[in-house]
Amino acid sequence: MTPLGLAQDPAQEARLLARIVETISAGLDLDAILQGIAALTTETTQTDVCFVYLLDETGEWLVLRGATPPFHRMAGQVELKMGEGVSGWVAAHGRPAVITDDKHADQRYKHLPALGREDLTSMACVPILVKPHRLVGVLNVHTRQRREFTDADVQLLGWMAGLMAGGIENARLHRMLAQREAAMERFAERIVLAQETERRRLAGEIHDGISQRVVSLSFHLSAAADALATKPDVAAHEIAEAQSLAEAALDETRFAIAGLHPPVLDDLGLAASLESLAASVPQLQIHAEASPCELPAHVATSVYRIAQEALQNVVKHAGATRARLRLQAHGDTITLEVQDDGKGFTPANNTGYGLPGMRERAELLGGTLEVKSHPGQGTLLRLRFPASQEQSTGNLSVPPE
Ligand SMILES: Nc1ncnc2c1ncn2[C@@H]1O[C@H](COP(=O)(O)OP(=O)(O)O)[C@@H](O)[C@H]1O
Ligand SMILES: [Mg+2]
Repeated sequence: MTPLGLAQDPAQEARLLARIVETISAGLDLDAILQGIAALTTETTQTDVCFVYLLDETGEWLVLRGATPPFHRMAGQVELKMGEGVSGWVAAHGRPAVITDDKHADQRYKHLPALGREDLTSMACVPILVKPHRLVGVLNVHTRQRREFTDADVQLLGWMAGLMAGGIENARLHRMLAQREAAMERFAERIVLAQETERRRLAGEIHDGISQRVVSLSFHLSAAADALATKPDVAAHEIAEAQSLAEAALDETRFAIAGLHPPVLDDLGLAASLESLAASVPQLQIHAEASPCELPAHVATSVYRIAQEALQNVVKHAGATRARLRLQAHGDTITLEVQDDGKGFTPANNTGYGLPGMRERAELLGGTLEVKSHPGQGTLLRLRFPASQEQSTGNLSVPPE
């Protein structure tokens, strides 16, 4: 499968092949590979700008991962839903697209203000597919001058994308595994710390609360025993005291247990537990909508903990008047959103333990945690992860044309 145009010049084709091989075998650093690919693509196709979008773990979002300067700085910050924009269309259909001019007249086009590329006129976009038909992402090139991309141009672009797909996929999987491994390590450290903290809390609760109550309960019972024969009214009073202490000890025991494991999860399932969690926040009216989804117990616990921490943050920090909690299942993707209309913050500057903990849990689920917030504009926290954990490597099949 020689690309048109290069067929006449085998030496040029060999040189290009060598450079592609050199670019994708330069190491396993995904950013460096994508940077190299963007540069090589613009040079080979004589275009001005190249963007490389990769499909994320959920298989529903295309995320900008590499580009020619200065756009490489936007890596990770621009995303398109499957089917959205020209790149989304190409990804969803598994077919190339060309726009010669007047992008705005093309129904597929979506202007992305973050990239501010109004001066770019023509574009060609091809899917990056690993054989036989698995989508890795989308490669697109733009020119400032009007250009009619020919079939040969598109074929060359598709040919390059096909050759580079395997290298990109390997580097992406390598990065994902490395991130998961790091998350596992951090998580393991945290588990040990959390276990110690939890044991200390429990010891404190048993010592200061429950055992104190049992000690005084025993005093009251002795006093009752002493008074029983001679002063029955005193004995009755002591027994009533003992009874209320027994009730208090029972309440405290329940509270200590609830802190260890949310018992509602086992009884009600995740959706109802989240609704009950939202209803248990007395300070704030929280609108909760949770659709039932079948998840393994450890996954449900992680989602519950993330929601719990997110709501605690709303109560502790946001000063919100309204908040919303939503759990949805869409195809294979589960989404949890916690949104408030409070004072907002700059996520990059935060120094707490809660958010990193939530992010680690999200990574272990093979998913992502986004925090969208600005001072004065409320906060949206979004967890997305694949319901079937085996598919969390981000595979998606594109039907053959
Ligand atoms: N919903 C929110 N609204 C406003 N600020 C928030 C919100 N969530 C988090 N923050 C800010 O981010 C910081 C870090 O949060 P987190 O990591 O959970 O740590 P902690 O809650 O222990 O402070 C908080 O101290 C707060 O300043
Ligand atoms: Mg917190």
